Amino acid sequence: MRMTDLIQKKRDGGALTREEIRWMIGGYTQGDIPDYQMSAMAMAIYFRGMDMDETYELTMAMLDSGDRIDLSAVSGIKADKHSTGGVGDKTSLVLCPMVAACGVKMAKLSGRGLGHTGGTIDKLESFPGFSTAMEEDAFLRQVDRVGFAIAGQTAQLCPADKKLYALRDVTATVASMPLIVSSILCKKLAAGADVIVLDVKCGSGAFMQTEQDAFGLAQALTQVGRRAGRKVVAVVTDMDEPLGNAVGNALEVKEALAALRGEYRGDLMDLCLTLGTQILREGGAAKDDAEARAMLENAISSGAALEKFAQFVRAQGGDAAAVYEPSLLPEAPVKLEVPAPVGGYVKRIHAEGVGLVSMRLGGGRASKEDSVDLAVGVVLAKKVGDAVAAGESLGWVHARTAEAARQAAEQLAACYEIGPEPVERAPFIKGVVRCAQEGATA
Ligand code: URA
Repeated sequence: MRMTDLIQKKRDGGALTREEIRWMIGGYTQGDIPDYQMSAMAMAIYFRGMDMDETYELTMAMLDSGDRIDLSAVSGIKADKHSTGGVGDKTSLVLCPMVAACGVKMAKLSGRGLGHTGGTIDKLESFPGFSTAMEEDAFLRQVDRVGFAIAGQTAQLCPADKKLYALRDVTATVASMPLIVSSILCKKLAAGADVIVLDVKCGSGAFMQTEQDAFGLAQALTQVGRRAGRKVVAVVTDMDEPLGNAVGNALEVKEALAALRGEYRGDLMDLCLTLGTQILREGGAAKDDAEARAMLENAISSGAALEKFAQFVRAQGGDAAAVYEPSLLPEAPVKLEVPAPVGGYVKRIHAEGVGLVSMRLGGGRASKEDSVDLAVGVVLAKKVGDAVAAGESLGWVHARTAEAARQAAEQLAACYEIGPEPVERAPFIKGVVRCAQEGATA
């Protein structure tokens, strides 16, 4: 086979065969196919797309490029969750202990943040001593004993995706449906869970800006996942404003702890209850949505989810005192209130902009080598639809220095659009997509 012929075939709208896709992904992973040819192929896929068969074969070829985690030593149903990425997304910190407290185990691999979105691993490092560098057998033992573990992803899992994602990032080919589906699913399939729940973000802060595209992605993810023999559910949710109120590592941990104490009932909790319901039902722990939701609510009100979180922090070497006493978490020396320049109703909060404010304060990375400041970030006091008087607080900036706080406060105010008319909020949960059809087993 010749890569030039495959590029030409895709460029002209042809469908690649299983053999061609496997040859291409194998060759690219081993370094036999150069980046410039793979870039041309990614661009051809971007414009021409791939049908379901091609998308499935691409996913499986990327899955087979590396190792898989074998969760069979862990008893019971194992679940995993993935989000297509958002600002203020601390869902895993709340969802995993809730679900584990209800008896379904969560085996989760996570990453560090880059750019305007934060990473779960950075957030968890707010607990002194906490580590996500775990050997596979320690990971499996912890999932079995505690009910969940969150570890850093190893380089041996889907090396083809690692290489191709980095290439897409610099060739303007990230936003391609088949490339996103195969990239997300190969990693989730390699991580071995029986039930996979995907949070597909939709809106200005997400890859998929329209509902139509987000539902298209959700359909494709569930279809390919089912064909690979897993139970996959996708929940389409709004990302037109940050999730929850806190953006920044330790600040998001504090918000997650408030949710686990039952003191937070906003969009974040709505999302965790919806995702958790799908996991418990698909995992067979609840007979229907109503029972699943009641179990999750009970995990919060009984304190079982918070206790599960403390167990998890301890098991991964962290100091769990801060779980019960959040003031022990890192705190920024400067806190500055951001007043509303005018009165009215919050029409829009630019999610990506808020993520960038936190990043520039030091809470995120501009490049992979940067370290993050765990203490800094922003806390929003107003969300879309809220009424606000001129001079009333829009939120707070947590910064290292007075000058950094002053600049961030200006930038945060600029992320808000305030209008004179009351604003009707669009529903936060836009829909749940399941695929009934089952096929071959991966
Ligand atoms: N997340 C991934 O892992 N891959 C993509 O292509 C997009 C989002």
